[in-house]
Amino acid sequence: MANAAAATGQKNDSAATRETPSVSGKEDPAKGHADNLMTLGDGLGAGNGSWTFAGNVHKVFDQHVSKSVPLYTESHEVGVQMSDFFIHEGSVVYDIGCSTGTLLRKLATYHKGKNVRFVGIDPVPDMIADARERSRDFDNIEYVVADVVDFDFLKADLILSYYTLQFVLPKHRQEVFDKIFSSLNWGGGLILFEKMRFPDARFQDITMQLYQEFKLMNGYSATDIIGKSRSLKGVLEPFSEAANRDLMSRAGFTDMTSIMRYLSFVGYLAIK
Ligand SMILES: C[S@@+](CC[C@H](N)C(=O)[O-])C[C@H]1O[C@@H](n2cnc3c(N)ncnc32)[C@H](O)[C@@H]1O
Repeated sequence: MANAAAATGQKNDSAATRETPSVSGKEDPAKGHADNLMTLGDGLGAGNGSWTFAGNVHKVFDQHVSKSVPLYTESHEVGVQMSDFFIHEGSVVYDIGCSTGTLLRKLATYHKGKNVRFVGIDPVPDMIADARERSRDFDNIEYVVADVVDFDFLKADLILSYYTLQFVLPKHRQEVFDKIFSSLNWGGGLILFEKMRFPDARFQDITMQLYQEFKLMNGYSATDIIGKSRSLKGVLEPFSEAANRDLMSRAGFTDMTSIMRYLSFVGYLAIK
């Protein structure tokens, strides 16, 4: 088991850590790569159902995520501003799936001078190495290489999770929400962003097509978009809004509200 003090419990076979090389850009994108790699934009490549955050992804992650997730910067800004209501002297704050640590550095800068312990967890060692390197000027941010499924949280006042729990296998997702709820102090907050699926086929169809337009406008080719979508099969598993609320309710949350939305990209605040 892993906790903030001991970085263990990493799952080597998970989609987050599976090793996939980047494409060089020399392959014919229409045909893909000889070993079935497809181009995904930003110099990335992956096979069908084989998306991973490991390998060289950390090098282009910030650029890739900000062009792929609508209102990405704004969603961080909302989380930072909202943190005032939960962070106090001595608070412990977690970011689940912290990637390169961008959100934690924003939070630590915003709360500079307060005695707060910020902990980022992510199962990809290269992401965490990158996050540590970029956070070396902060003495109150620590990073743990861990899968949230195996992680033991300390009591916390704020837990953030941005577009991460959608990558946790459905069979483990409820236990993760249960753990988050029981780790929060009374009055503590969960700020959760997830991609959602619409229960109605028309809404799902319309929003999916608009999302493709969003990616085209951000410079991705049709080949990149299809390649990314194929690579995410069985790896990114969005739930419906009702299913996500049910996960939170079953965990014990009664007070929850949506705080932000762009098509299927939804942010929630749940308070214990
Ligand atoms: C879309 S990125 C998150 C972006 C980041 N939260 C941000 O705001 O920039 C998803 C991250 O979740 C991590 N991840 C995937 N599965 C995970 C798991 N089971 N436990 C913890 N983190 C996980 C990935 O390695 C990746 O860094």
